[in-house]
Amino acid sequence: MNADEMDVGRRRFLTAATSVIGGVGAAFVAYPFLASWSPSEKTRALGAPVEVDLSKLEPGQKITIAWRGKPVFIVNRTKNYLDHLAAVNNDVLRDPLSEEPQQPPYATNAYRSIKEDILVVIGICTHLGCVPLFKPEVGVIDSSWEGGFFCPCHGSKYDLAGRVYKGVPAPLNLVVPPYKYKSDTIIVVGEDNQQGVA
Ligand code: FES
Repeated sequence: MNADEMDVGRRRFLTAATSVIGGVGAAFVAYPFLASWSPSEKTRALGAPVEVDLSKLEPGQKITIAWRGKPVFIVNRTKNYLDHLAAVNNDVLRDPLSEEPQQPPYATNAYRSIKEDILVVIGICTHLGCVPLFKPEVGVIDSSWEGGFFCPCHGSKYDLAGRVYKGVPAPLNLVVPPYKYKSDTIIVVGEDNQQGVA
């Protein structure tokens, strides 16, 4: 073998070796993404609507689902919760009639929801974005507390319709996302209710 032939052989080896290393590297980089992203997670991350089956949501229970990377609280409000919601004096709320555009038109009512028992709100405090705690028990935050959501970051308070109290740092009610009923027990978060009303 002359020097030229040796050189060509060496170049071929180096090229092949580099391709193998590149291939291994690409495989290692790609694998975690393929492994950790199921098709439903990919569509969710892109903001696709999310169907939620409410048939197992117990009275009084709150669940949290993810939509567009945000927590969405869904609460099955009991008659007792609704009575306490009605007991909140409008004077202590910043936007009791939901006049700010924090909800779709079909949730601009006393319950801020399509059906009065099921609340759907984005669980992000309108102050600086913490996730508020669900505190439905009467009197646990202060003596006039009728149940609601409490943000421990700076003490913002919301009632059981996500309406913000006066005198706290949060300026606005919790956001109600677009949603609709696909059936009696299935809602779709991220799609508008076509009728516009319940
Ligand atoms: S982020 Fe909720 S009170 Fe500040």
